Amino acid sequence: MNFIDTHTHLFLKQFKDDIDDVIDIAIRSGITKMFLPNINSETTDSMLQLCEKYPGNCFSMMGLHPCDVKKETMEKELLHVEEMLEKEKFIAVGEIGLDLYWDKTTLEIQKMAFEFQIKLAKKHKLPIVIHVRDSFLEAIEIVEKLNDENLSGVFHCFTGNVDDSKRITDLGNFYLGIGGVLTFKNSGVDKTIEKIDMKHLILETDSPYLAPTPYRGKRNESKYIVNIAEKLSEIKGLEIEEVAKITTENALNLFKI
Ligand code: NI
Repeated sequence: MNFIDTHTHLFLKQFKDDIDDVIDIAIRSGITKMFLPNINSETTDSMLQLCEKYPGNCFSMMGLHPCDVKKETMEKELLHVEEMLEKEKFIAVGEIGLDLYWDKTTLEIQKMAFEFQIKLAKKHKLPIVIHVRDSFLEAIEIVEKLNDENLSGVFHCFTGNVDDSKRITDLGNFYLGIGGVLTFKNSGVDKTIEKIDMKHLILETDSPYLAPTPYRGKRNESKYIVNIAEKLSEIKGLEIEEVAKITTENALNLFKI
């Protein structure tokens, strides 16, 4: 039984003391592939080093996280994304998007950075990995505007309602990233996911954040994909093997590795 963790920040400082153990136990738990979304230019080197150390297991994305879109540094940061995409091989442009939870004042420049990076993804024929927080409507409007048959991607850490999910799947080549929030009591995500076809779903942890129950509040790790898959199998009334098979196929289909 194989899984893919399609969203895991294993290169962050939370893992600096035991990263080899974290990857080893993830692989032994069946999570044989881990996809790493970048945050900003300062995290690029550690991400690339990790992927170099674990070829076939760890794969890099390139992008500027919406929380790091700042007036003073935006130009330099986006140039870094653009240059790296020319220079190195990445499996996606991510993570990109809009975050209005931490800072509403940067909405306009966040939108500019998001659109710019979607255009880079189209140029390089790469999928996009989208972060939205308190900003689904603003973000989906931009994706709908720029969508065409060459654009694909995932709304990572999906926590929306059925209408939101429909707008995503109506785009054509877009998936919902399902993570630890699915296991939280009263998150309501389980009720939504119940109504969404498995063909639209991929699994992710968003490590080190959002650890699933019963590890909520602790450091998240890629091995906990199994806990998320168990919850999904319960909701869908499927064997966990079937969940592994479908979500892995979906992830490979999107990221084309
Ligand atoms: Ni993330």
